[in-house]
Amino acid sequence: MPTQLDTLRGPLDAIGQGHVLAHWAQLTATQQARLVDDLQALDLAWVAELAEQVRAPKPPQAAGAAPKPPPTVAITPALVAAGEALLRAGQVAAFVVAGGQGTRLGHPGPKGTFPATPVTGKPLFQVFAEQIAAVGQRYGVTVPWYVMTSPQNDAETRVFFRAHGYFGLPQADVVFFPQGTLPTFGPDGRLLLAGPDRLATNPDGHGGSLTALVRSGALADMRARGVTQIAYFQVDNPLAQPLDPGFLGAHAAAAASSGEMTSKAVRKVAPDERVGVFAQIDGRTQVVEYSDLSPAQAAARRPDGRLVLDAGNVAVHALSVAFVEHLTAGGRADLPLHRAHKRQPVYDPSVGAVAEAAVVKFEQFVFDALPRCAASAVIEVARADEFAPIKNAEGADSPATSRQLQSERAAAWLAAAGVAVPRDAGGALLCTLEIAAATALDAAALAGQPLPDHIPPGATLAL
Ligand code: UTP
Repeated sequence: MPTQLDTLRGPLDAIGQGHVLAHWAQLTATQQARLVDDLQALDLAWVAELAEQVRAPKPPQAAGAAPKPPPTVAITPALVAAGEALLRAGQVAAFVVAGGQGTRLGHPGPKGTFPATPVTGKPLFQVFAEQIAAVGQRYGVTVPWYVMTSPQNDAETRVFFRAHGYFGLPQADVVFFPQGTLPTFGPDGRLLLAGPDRLATNPDGHGGSLTALVRSGALADMRARGVTQIAYFQVDNPLAQPLDPGFLGAHAAAAASSGEMTSKAVRKVAPDERVGVFAQIDGRTQVVEYSDLSPAQAAARRPDGRLVLDAGNVAVHALSVAFVEHLTAGGRADLPLHRAHKRQPVYDPSVGAVAEAAVVKFEQFVFDALPRCAASAVIEVARADEFAPIKNAEGADSPATSRQLQSERAAAWLAAAGVAVPRDAGGALLCTLEIAAATALDAAALAGQPLPDHIPPGATLAL
């Protein structure tokens, strides 16, 4: 009778990956079973294709037509009303991607547990939980929240929510599921090991979230709840407003939108800003990464001085459930794979130890779904209102810059409500402010609230 080893060895040898079994005889029975689990989970035909891609030279960038500004939609009262109707009908779900590795931030835990707000240090997950609860309250519904984790941080994320009582949300309306992984390769296209009994894998990128929605049953759960639209956002921008009714209405009802996938953008001001931009190429909306724009394209300006390509991607998208079903009809999201060359610890069975080595990882990006839409529009929103990313431990896009931007947004909202906010002669804010979503979801919602006339210099205030 063929052993488990025999049934695996042949197919692995056939695709040139038999080396992952070379140390089989040195493994304990438990380790062998563990390695078999990893190997059986592989789609070998796909592994062969990926290995081929690792070995292929990086394809030259397709010389498409020059990128033009994407179609944009200006928000009208009718579009706001359309979005409000969707929310009131319970047709909108919030979807945060909170997997990934958070390498640059270096926080010891899921990124969503990072203390982000300037006064009370609320974790990112709490910021969004409060926003989701406040939107639900405003429209008289419960907005279901889907939280994509990674296999590495899934358990810790669930424990965190449980320990905090789901931040007041009904437990049944917070749905967790881990994203998928892809095998990590050596530069020669060979599968790598993370340990004697484990294949090396990496999270499959935020684009993997579409596959994970289907495989986890979350998409079916949305259908069962009557959800038709998904408000997608990333966990590392505490100012993100994915459930904004104008945005949702534009997505579902604007003439420039096919209702499949719509994006928010903030205006890029400097040509060298490291943010992807929305562009229209060959009639399709897409994101061009900053590294893929030529210096001339990045710096091109309109007659009024605005950059031509200035619609910066803040990773807030609305997607219809039907569109995600269409994209994943083959069982996984039909999106391109991006290859990244990195260094990381891998297990070398010939010496029986882990050592750093060159690796090749694949990832999918969610914005690669944009060109698949018949018509995908971009909604420009105020940067100061909606963008304060936490990516790096220090410097640009760090906790410090994010706290400052959050405080500035609160100051602007309070000033608009008639509160005197202290600033120095240069305009720098002289206090630290925080406004919870329960207090106000937007500047207008501060009207009628009990507010101080002024804030003293040096004050720290959480409303
Ligand atoms: P980033 O691209 O900033 O990646 O993710 P990251 O893993 O958080 O951080 P670095 O690059 O290792 O420093 C943007 C958003 O997409 C999610 C992250 O949780 C974050 O909300 N993401 C990213 C995933 O959910 N899965 C992934 O595989 C990658």
